[in-house]
Amino acid sequence: MPVRPATAHDAGFLRRILQEAYNWNGEQRFTAEQLAADPHAARYVADWPRGGDFGVVAETGDGEPVGAAWARCLPEDRPGYGFVAADVPELTLGVLPAHRGRGLGRSLMEALIRAAAEQDGPVTRLSLSVEDGNPAARLYTSLGFVRAGREGGSDTMVLDVPGRRG
Ligand SMILES: CC(C)(COP(=O)(O)OP(=O)(O)OC[C@H]1O[C@@H](n2cnc3c(N)ncnc32)[C@H](O)[C@@H]1OP(=O)(O)O)[C@@H](O)C(=O)NCCC(=O)NCCS
Repeated sequence: MPVRPATAHDAGFLRRILQEAYNWNGEQRFTAEQLAADPHAARYVADWPRGGDFGVVAETGDGEPVGAAWARCLPEDRPGYGFVAADVPELTLGVLPAHRGRGLGRSLMEALIRAAAEQDGPVTRLSLSVEDGNPAARLYTSLGFVRAGREGGSDTMVLDVPGRRG
């Protein structure tokens, strides 16, 4: 399935995927309305795309988006769950339930890591937060992410972006 760069037109879909990431365990812990009203959740997608944001979208041959991964730097006084530093973008990943288990999550992550290496700004690391029990942690580990800290019931993981130019 093709993976393409995320654009301003994908803002609504990224919000949909953010909801999948918040509800990763299959329970409807957060409705779309709750997430939209939650200032912490909004940080990941507000005003998409801001300068320095980058992301990728997987879509069907019909152009239907089914998964996305994106990264954004957040400030220390309004951090994300996986904050390590203000110049380290934190990523969000999700695939719609009907399309999981076919390699899309891995393809999206690989494309996002390549995009990180190609950014004009110095993206030397990527970070994320993964809650205990989420099998996505295995994907991250296999891509080279390592545990860098704990926040509540979640691991913060960091990747040194490989092949960073310059
Ligand atoms: C995590 C997620 C994006 C993976 O997408 P996917 O398309 O199913 O992933 P892939 O088919 O590429 O599988 C990649 C790896 O993910 C791991 N994995 C992810 N979810 C898994 C699950 N439910 N069960 C088993 N393994 C899983 C496996 O290690 C797999 O390894 P493999 O490539 O060696 O088979 C998807 O399950 C999802 O959207 N989950 C809900 C949102 C979420 O958890 N986001 C991450 C928040 S930190």
